[in-house]
Amino acid sequence: MSNPSLLILAGDGIGPEVMAQVQRIIGWYGDKRGLNFDVSEDLVGGAAYDAHGTPLHDDTMAKAQAVDAVLLGAVGGPKYDDLDFSVKPERGLLRLRKEMDLFANLRPAQCFDALSEFSSLKTELVSGLDIMIVRELTSGVYFGEPRGIFEEGNQRVGINTQRYTEAEIERGARAAFELAMKRDKRLCSMEKANVMESGILWREVVTEVSKDYPEVALSHMYADNGAMQLVRAPKQFDVIYTDNLFGDILSDCAAMLTGSLGMLPSASLGAPMENGRPKALYEPVHGSAPDITGQCKANPSACILSFAMALRYSFDQGAEADRLEAAVEKVLADGVRTADLMQANDGTPVSTTEMGDAILAALDASL
Ligand code: IPM
Ligand code: MG
Repeated sequence: MSNPSLLILAGDGIGPEVMAQVQRIIGWYGDKRGLNFDVSEDLVGGAAYDAHGTPLHDDTMAKAQAVDAVLLGAVGGPKYDDLDFSVKPERGLLRLRKEMDLFANLRPAQCFDALSEFSSLKTELVSGLDIMIVRELTSGVYFGEPRGIFEEGNQRVGINTQRYTEAEIERGARAAFELAMKRDKRLCSMEKANVMESGILWREVVTEVSKDYPEVALSHMYADNGAMQLVRAPKQFDVIYTDNLFGDILSDCAAMLTGSLGMLPSASLGAPMENGRPKALYEPVHGSAPDITGQCKANPSACILSFAMALRYSFDQGAEADRLEAAVEKVLADGVRTADLMQANDGTPVSTTEMGDAILAALDASL
């Protein structure tokens, strides 16, 4: 049987730096656990624009469709701010999500014990925090038509459309309920049913799907209240299911609660392929961080933890994912810190590579 295939799209900014550490982790799994992957690499975002004049070449899109999982670093940077909207680095990422039909975006917001003091909230509000946000990723206002900037009388009007079909709401809801079943069996669905018809439909469909998951306690919340509750008492949540735009905002909010944006991974999953594995793309939640690019300062943990999610959700290697997550936690508990995990006068931070060294050493020690 051939090895599972991975396409690495390191992208822009710190993407290549953090991905280099993921490559070492992948190598470790081959050497030490006999888990070999066929790894190929390609360009996305600004890097692809520089090479091809497009943020995602058709050949790269075809490769992404053919592999078992895509690992993405980050896209974007100030250099590309003035590009036409249609070729901005972010369009490359959005095209991958749309054409691979990655409808379920899993964004865990987990507070690492060793880092709880970094949260902007009081430690007791966040210690032990473990939320899973499931964001619908292929529809809603990100993709709805009509969209554009149009002339209307003597002025221009900018239009985007929030649009959800029942099927789109339902498939994401099923993914969220399945996750809730493996966790604390609580699901909170967030929309704006008080002002939006798409929210009314959202609530109806999620309620209907819940009949298939009687063990899961379902609640509904308006998304604005959800934002407030996330900063008031975040531990009330287990799984949150919400739409593309609310999910974008609420997941940034939840990420910041943990105090460790540089630590958070994500998975974007689609329908199962012929081999039974879901279409999948894994990426850190942090962006391209142009301010520290090229300085070997970036924290590779979020990207490494994204590979852990790949082990769990694409390759059925839950125990190996646990091993990798435990290795990262061990390194934090030992006080190893990249610059983003330090406060002023906290000593000397380790480099990106040294963080990779420490995680590899913790993996070795786990054998
Ligand atoms: C995210 C990002 C993207 C989004 C951008 C880069 C297109 O903010 O993944 O949350 O808005 O979805
Ligand atoms: Mg975002």
